Amino acid sequence: MALVFTIAQQKGGSGKTMLAANLAAIWSVHTKVALLDIDPQRSLMHWHQLRQGAKGAIGPIHLSEVAGWRMAAELDRLRDAHDIVIVDSPPQIETEAKLAIRAADFVLVPVQPSLPDAWAAAGTLKLAKAEKREALLILNRAPAKSALRTQVEALMVKSGARITNAVIGNRAGFANAFARGLGVVETAPKSVAAAEMAALAAELREIAGR
Ligand SMILES: Nc1ncnc2c1ncn2[C@@H]1O[C@H](COP(=O)(O)OP(=O)(O)OP(=O)(O)O)[C@@H](O)[C@H]1O
Ligand SMILES: [Mg+2]
Repeated sequence: MALVFTIAQQKGGSGKTMLAANLAAIWSVHTKVALLDIDPQRSLMHWHQLRQGAKGAIGPIHLSEVAGWRMAAELDRLRDAHDIVIVDSPPQIETEAKLAIRAADFVLVPVQPSLPDAWAAAGTLKLAKAEKREALLILNRAPAKSALRTQVEALMVKSGARITNAVIGNRAGFANAFARGLGVVETAPKSVAAAEMAALAAELREIAGR
């Protein structure tokens, strides 16, 4: 049975799809990874399509996209056939995203250093709590230490949810890799962005204990 990470955050543009793609690219080297895109924007599906013709992909990644009532069955199928399943959800957390949260071992909640992001994260954490799932907050696009970062980090701590030690900086490499259907570990393996993402991937496996 696969380990399931559902990436959820009601704030649009917080980095959900970027995280899904980059974590999948890292884990695809040693594990059977499946992505499930339940966002009607289909960004992850488009990334995956680009990946099919891309030079430099280090491992195969399966992607399914489903909507509506078929989601639960597809998730069960993916879970049986892979080691890790990552679900990328839309910013509007409605029926399917709630089901994906319920099915997750861990809910990953990216938070950018802005107050609206921190407030939206609190709402997302409530949903995870309602489904009795453990949520992990991940600071994304983190600037160097600043008053705003301190303020957002204080709100993250106040939420009571676990916060990953790994922090992802604001790095152009993520968008560049995404545009090529790749992760930063593939386009710029020696970059700071790749090191940050690898640290996050390792920490998540450690937290999950598998
Ligand atoms: N750490 C980062 N550094 C630089 N750019 C980033 C970072 N994280 C995300 N971005 C960029 O921000 C934009 C939004 O990211 P992404 O699409 O992953 O967010 P999202 O949460 O999936 O959005 P939506 O809610 O619309 O699905 C993208 O252009 C992405 O490349
Ligand atoms: Mg997205």
